Amino acid sequence: MAYQYLLYEKRERIGYVTINRPEKLNALNAATVHELWTVFHEIAHDDDVGVVILTGAGDKAFVAGADIAELAEQTPIGGRAMARFGQQLLSFIERLGKPVIAAINGYALGGGCELAMACTIRIASENAKLGQPEVKLGLIPGYGGTQRLARLIGKGRALELLLTGEMISAEEAYRLGLVNRVTSREELLPTAETIARQILSNAPLAVRFCLEAVTAGLEMPLEEALLLEATLFGLCAASEDFREGTRAFLEKRPAQFKGR
Ligand code: COA
Repeated sequence: MAYQYLLYEKRERIGYVTINRPEKLNALNAATVHELWTVFHEIAHDDDVGVVILTGAGDKAFVAGADIAELAEQTPIGGRAMARFGQQLLSFIERLGKPVIAAINGYALGGGCELAMACTIRIASENAKLGQPEVKLGLIPGYGGTQRLARLIGKGRALELLLTGEMISAEEAYRLGLVNRVTSREELLPTAETIARQILSNAPLAVRFCLEAVTAGLEMPLEEALLLEATLFGLCAASEDFREGTRAFLEKRPAQFKGR
């Protein structure tokens, strides 16, 4: 499928999604959001892709937010529908069943920061700047930012970022726990690929269930989340890969996982 605002390719079980609108700092217009919806639905059903790396084209921006030119024309009803669709897209990415690594190559502002927060792991290059500047435009985040930011870095620190609307450096984002690692620009994609390959060497069902246990479990009362964990643990114990993984360890050889 050809996209107007995205680049998509697959190499060695990694799906590379690049938001490709660099002249507008990869701002998310409605068409880009729809294309992201399509590509992530394609990836969800593609067994050849085990991990996704999501980044922005160019050296300046990951995503500089929702498209402000489109936002300026928004009606109340249209704005609500836009926020709901964006929320659904980001929840779909968060619950894709495959890890999505955000390689943050520059500005990740507003919807860009929200998109990165819906990903499983965030790596930022040294030049990256992150923030939720919506209050400067008379808005609040509408793609889950008020919720995911507080869950990731805590209520007080999230509110400081949300209420001041200030941008922070990659280093500060690392200090706050908003990104997992900071690298040079050159090392950004190689670092994301190293993490992707480490994940791909593990049992695919176990990876999927870990993701599910953490993502769904964090939204449940602890007792229910523990029950979910135990059930997924039991499912793993019924898999061929569990037998292969344990046997390979005892036979002192690398495991050959099949995702079954
Ligand atoms: N929506 C639409 N267009 C955007 C955009 C956005 N969120 N962010 C940047 N652009 C466009 C600019 O309008 C400009 O287009 P033009 O060349 O046709 O005028 C182009 O991208 C380059 O941006 P520019 O502002 O010239 O770059 P800069 O280096 O001077 O500043 C930023 C970079 C990120 C600080 C600045 O673009 C900015 O503040 N963007 C908006 C961030 C924001 O508020 N996002 C949240 C939206 S809810």
